[in-house]
Amino acid sequence: MMMNLRSDFYVTTPIYYVNDNPHIGHAYTTILADVLARYHRWQGQDVFFLTGLDEHGQKVQQAAQGRGLCEQSHCDELAASFVSLWQKLDIQNDDFIRTTQKRHIKAVQKALRKIDEGGDVYSSEYEGWYSVAEERFITQTEKESGQFREIKRFKERNYFFKMSKYQQRLIDYINTHPGFIQPEYRRNEVLGFLRQPLGDLCISRPKARMGWGIEIPFDKDYVTYVWFDALINYLTAAGYSEDEEKLRNWWPASVHLIGKDILTTHAVYWPTMLFALELPLPKTIFAHGWWLIGETKMSKSLGNVIDPLSLIDQYGVDPVRYYLMREMVLGQDAHFTLESFIKRYNSDLANDFGNLLNRVSGLIGKYFNGSVPLEGTRGTPEEEIRTTANNLVQKIQDLINAMRVHEAIEEILQLVRQVNKYLEVQAPWKVAKTNLVRAGTILYTSTEALRISAVLLSPVMPGRTHTVLDILGATGTAPLWGKLKAGIKLKSHEALFPRVET
Ligand code: MSP
Repeated sequence: MMMNLRSDFYVTTPIYYVNDNPHIGHAYTTILADVLARYHRWQGQDVFFLTGLDEHGQKVQQAAQGRGLCEQSHCDELAASFVSLWQKLDIQNDDFIRTTQKRHIKAVQKALRKIDEGGDVYSSEYEGWYSVAEERFITQTEKESGQFREIKRFKERNYFFKMSKYQQRLIDYINTHPGFIQPEYRRNEVLGFLRQPLGDLCISRPKARMGWGIEIPFDKDYVTYVWFDALINYLTAAGYSEDEEKLRNWWPASVHLIGKDILTTHAVYWPTMLFALELPLPKTIFAHGWWLIGETKMSKSLGNVIDPLSLIDQYGVDPVRYYLMREMVLGQDAHFTLESFIKRYNSDLANDFGNLLNRVSGLIGKYFNGSVPLEGTRGTPEEEIRTTANNLVQKIQDLINAMRVHEAIEEILQLVRQVNKYLEVQAPWKVAKTNLVRAGTILYTSTEALRISAVLLSPVMPGRTHTVLDILGATGTAPLWGKLKAGIKLKSHEALFPRVET
């Protein structure tokens, strides 16, 4: 299914809690957003790629207290480590939002005023169970489920958002917008959740208990509940509090990328908030699965397990980006192991892609003095490769628009494998002895297919593909057959992906 038919593309990641150093869960979604953003830019769309940090609420407050720092200094320190991870991961985001920024505080207060004026806010005393870990009131059934930690009994006056009022409208919306929640089984999960009566949402915390948040504009004794605050970030960055024209340009977002654990907040709280704000809903909310180690979600405390991010120092960022994008079927969980990383690296990157570069540059060096030969006359095998390569561009666009990133990558690798096989069959090293022109055709064809695969893989591996294109004198070229120039002198190079011996 096409995600979005507009000519622009606004993609977001969740904003990450600054209660800990960044980990694989944060890195994965941000890389995914970066890959999508790069593909969409390359399709000629205007792209706005937003990521950022969730800096309010109890978890962050506790983390700051635990380090003996004031909240803001704690956030500032951790923000720096997120930013440096993004640099290390080659992330090209267009904006970086932090919920302690003025523009965001303005946006949250504007939204609160708006829903209050619309009659969707009331104050009420509530007594119930509260999970400190989850930062929300829980029902008796939830308490008994044993899934919630640090449960306390609370009696408190708070502000509530009339979320229940929008339940039927949300159900109707989901039913009439099949692409809104993806993958489809997550959509069914949300519809299942909505079969129970939806309560109202407690959107405040008394300052006397938890003061680290955005003040409620109509009651200075309260701050805003962290999720109500956080979700609004997607509007803030699109100009909600200060730039109406920007908002018109960018809202609604094309896709909110999230992990499956934050589906309810995004697919239930957020759309009802937008209904109350009289704003359109995002085109797509896409929930991906988790990176698991054994059966456990791979997050902060990894114990003696290898942190995938540590692989960057040894193998470079591109193989890590490649592995994360190729190995996870979007929507499903994936298992991280060092063995599968090395296996993937050796097979796809060293043996297929890297090897193709080594072969063509070696042969062109030996038989053509390092200059790309003329294409000459294409025979049937050359036409086959040319057709696969030319059709690939549309195929990749369709797969990316359908969020089938791992399949897009696999399609490109299939071309690479096809060319490696073609080289073996055609054996230009033998042909060169008797027919140099024909050997030139074989090598032009192989190098041109390599160039096109490098262009198509560049959103996934921006660095190494740039090196390949630089070697071929083809930086910035389009993935169309024939853009490789004959006569170009190939640059000398080292092995791009040296094989890892296990
Ligand atoms: N602050 C909220 C999001 C607010 S968005 C308006 C939050 N932050 S978080 O830092 O705890 O988590 C952010 C994301 O990391 C979630 O989407 C979560 O699914 C993802 N991941 C955490 N561990 C993960 C894996 N092991 N694998 C993949 N992603 C997982 O929730």
